[in-house]
Amino acid sequence: MRPLEIVLVAGARPNFMKIAPIYWALREHAADHVAVTIVHTGQHYDARMSDDFFRDLRLPEPDVNLGVGSASHAEQTARVMTGFERVLLERRPDVVVVVGDVNSTAACALVTSKMDWEPRPDASGAGRAGGGRGATARRRPLLVHVEAGLRSGDRAMPEEINRLVTDAISDLLLTTCRDADENLRREGVADDKIRFVGNPMIDSLRRTVAAADSCPVLERLGFAGRAYGLCTLHRPSNVDDPATLGEILAALAEIATATPILLPLHPRTRARIAAFGLATAPGMHLLEPLSYVEMLKATKEAAFVLTDSGGVQEETTALGVPCVTLRENTERPVTITEGSNVLAGVSRSGIVAGLESARRKVAEGTRVPELWDGHAGERIAAALAAAGEGA
Ligand code: UD1
Repeated sequence: MRPLEIVLVAGARPNFMKIAPIYWALREHAADHVAVTIVHTGQHYDARMSDDFFRDLRLPEPDVNLGVGSASHAEQTARVMTGFERVLLERRPDVVVVVGDVNSTAACALVTSKMDWEPRPDASGAGRAGGGRGATARRRPLLVHVEAGLRSGDRAMPEEINRLVTDAISDLLLTTCRDADENLRREGVADDKIRFVGNPMIDSLRRTVAAADSCPVLERLGFAGRAYGLCTLHRPSNVDDPATLGEILAALAEIATATPILLPLHPRTRARIAAFGLATAPGMHLLEPLSYVEMLKATKEAAFVLTDSGGVQEETTALGVPCVTLRENTERPVTITEGSNVLAGVSRSGIVAGLESARRKVAEGTRVPELWDGHAGERIAAALAAAGEGA
């Protein structure tokens, strides 16, 4: 029988650590009956936003790179869609896996759900190339969303729209936490489409933590053995408005008088700080984006983290590092109810107070959420194999 053909889609920085554990598990446990194709949409393309992550996560070069690059939401989404449609028409995989909530996720999900293959001329009911999978009878691949069901409730976030769209059309919804299951049920998703598999980001974290321990990034930055905070900032709602960005930078400047802050900057944030002519204080150290291993090391050793990222809220919870989220809401409430995260908003006083409560929270003890155990990739691989066989 021919192998089950699975396409793994990744487009932007936060996707890479989610596909890596799925790729490893499929290679380690199912290599003889599964063929994996990695499709990189090229939404992120700088070496520090993309290639370094493939290297750190021991992912092979993508089989396909659509090279879409940066553009407006509509244009970027459209470029991914036309490129990915060609890939599906040519490869006709059995399963497409999309992860997370970036524009590439929603774009590839839409294309997959509307694929309508002509039956192959060799259709004999026995499947392609004499296989027994019945692939010729299918008119489109099975669509699987990993990290389904997260909801911030804030439809002004592009990611929330991407989550809603992707979940509404996916055939199988794999979740990282129980509250995501509840969100999906509340939206009317049938129970048999939902599987709680745990968090693949934490698999990547656990597999990479030894490499992070020996990574010399803190020596390079002159912070080995010193107390520091770490801040990442890139949400358009935080960095595209001069007043909001100014308020956040003022909070950081206040905090940095006591503890220096490392700021590995997303290209968007660096550009906005320069364009708005905003000042940063001496205790704030503006850096190029860090690689995955460097970021993990910097997070693990930080006295505290301030962030508007989704993934960083999860990583700090897994590592038990105090985390202050510079947003009004989060789609990852388990990091607050169980983990080390505090929602602080974006006012100067809120951020300063948030830091105190995050520190207190960690001192009192936090938990790592259920199934954030380093084995989500294996559960996802098993779910894919089972769903693909049945498709
Ligand atoms: C995207 C995701 C966001 C995710 C973030 C992680 C969407 C809607 N947003 O936001 O959910 O948290 O990635 O980083 O998909 N740029 C570069 N080099 C790159 C990539 C981007 O310079 O390799 C710059 C470009 O100026 C570009 C801007 O960053 O216009 C925004 O990139 P884009 O991928 O559109 O969105 P992000 O803000 O990165």
